[in-house]
Amino acid sequence: MESSKVRQTFLDFFKSKGHEIMPSSPMVVKNDPTLMFINSGMAPFKDLFLGNSPIKFPRVVDTQKCLRVSGKHNDLEEVGVDTYHHTMFEMLGNWSFGDYFKKDAITWAWELLTEVYKIDKSRLYVTVFEGSKEDNLGFDQEAFDIWKQFIPEERILRGNKKDNFWEMGDIGPCGPCSEIHYDGRTLEEIAKVGGASRVNNDDPQVIEVWNNVFMEFERKADGSLVKLPKQHVDTGMGFERLVRVLQEKQSNYDTDVFKPVIDKIEELSGLRYKPFEEEKHQKQLIINIAMRVIADHIRAISFSIADGQLPSNTGAGYVIRRILRRAIRYGYQSLNLKEPFMYRLVPVLAHQMGHAFPELVSQKLLIEKVIKEEEIAFFRTLENGLKRIDQVCANTIRDKKQIVDGAIVFELYDTFGFPIDLTSLIARGYGLSIDEEGFQKELEKQKNRSREATAVDTGDWIEINKQDSLNKNQEVKFVGYEQLEAESKIIKYRKVKAKGKEQFQVVLDKTPFYAESGGHLPMKRSMLRIQKRKMELLFILQINFLRILLRHFMQK
Ligand code: SER
Repeated sequence: MESSKVRQTFLDFFKSKGHEIMPSSPMVVKNDPTLMFINSGMAPFKDLFLGNSPIKFPRVVDTQKCLRVSGKHNDLEEVGVDTYHHTMFEMLGNWSFGDYFKKDAITWAWELLTEVYKIDKSRLYVTVFEGSKEDNLGFDQEAFDIWKQFIPEERILRGNKKDNFWEMGDIGPCGPCSEIHYDGRTLEEIAKVGGASRVNNDDPQVIEVWNNVFMEFERKADGSLVKLPKQHVDTGMGFERLVRVLQEKQSNYDTDVFKPVIDKIEELSGLRYKPFEEEKHQKQLIINIAMRVIADHIRAISFSIADGQLPSNTGAGYVIRRILRRAIRYGYQSLNLKEPFMYRLVPVLAHQMGHAFPELVSQKLLIEKVIKEEEIAFFRTLENGLKRIDQVCANTIRDKKQIVDGAIVFELYDTFGFPIDLTSLIARGYGLSIDEEGFQKELEKQKNRSREATAVDTGDWIEINKQDSLNKNQEVKFVGYEQLEAESKIIKYRKVKAKGKEQFQVVLDKTPFYAESGGHLPMKRSMLRIQKRKMELLFILQINFLRILLRHFMQK
């Protein structure tokens, strides 16, 4: 089954069960201090779970663009090294907002996987929450009993709070969950070791495909759990993993989700990507890892730019810049790509995913341009770094030392983007080694600095006079079309501590302030302004030119 059909089948299945199909929200988050990027399908619906927004559709189905590169859910270091983690991925989800609960969620999940997608039942395992003393929660007997109707008991495993109690972040909606895992090993391997012991054990062939979360609680800032006003269902299925299972591949990168981009990387580098089974040799493994990193990262970067987040030196922009630089480094180091190449992957990606995510097509030129500019700048930095490294090695030899100082190795890493193994390789060319321990110490120091700088401590929302308020739904009225100033009352507030400073965020009952929707808007506007200015200048030039011509002929 082609990946586009896999996606459509999911949406259609839940539509047939009364769900409304919704488009993905932008991946970049602009109005939530606890989150830089959407890291799961449920993040855009957070306020619905908490009862802060009205429920328009009690059943929804979607595919949500997610990015897991910062905060509680961060998979960056695994990406490329393994074959099933991604920075950006699609999460297929069906949602019940105070409507159906465990029974329907589990029954439909099983029906879709085994009857519609026709996945071999004997390769599936499920997990249920074992309970947590700390949170005073018991074993999820209800989910266990429902699963028992579909799957033998020995394949229903008990999972702890880490794996089977889902939380978006340190605070917010949460609840016990039930995961579905797929054992993709060969029959010989399965005969040797049963799948149950491989579940949640970092086996690249026994992977979680779907998580069904039963949202019932809110985690408060003091760590306590409070029951939500209603019970909800939040499910998340990794689209790329599902496609891999259905296309019977051993790696997500061997599916048609990644193949076109990998083909293009092969063309640009003149090197071959070999399927997972053939990457046992170290040389091939290095090439494969680099191609996977690039094929993954180009998606994260392109979608972020399309959603309005440009690379920059701070916050979310810095995260994007670092992902882009990580990809360039892998290309430079492992694929011998010595000039800008990432931007050339954008048309391939837009062609392949544009039907599901039209923003990739409409913003294609902008994405290419931004990436190319970044690449040119970073390649210049890399060249300066190479000069610096030559100088450092020469100085080390002059000082009759054999080891390059750890602080300098770190400077090369931090300022010039040189990974430690690249520095080590170049140093070896001079007969030198590098001080790895010193490098690690500097790295740790920097991590602490950035942790302190980005730590955000968010308090719970405190609602004011909800009971006696006229505005019982606590909706914010926008009055900006008629007036630029308004007298308002505070509906709720919370304390946010970021970068060592304390701030209060307030929600007003009415406001003339317009909420920017979508980060690309300000940019579009400023581009329009530039465009307009250009036209004006052109017009002035033309008028002046006509004047000169006129004068010229009159003189004649
Ligand atoms: N919130 C859950 C997850 O991200 C299920 O969607 O795994």
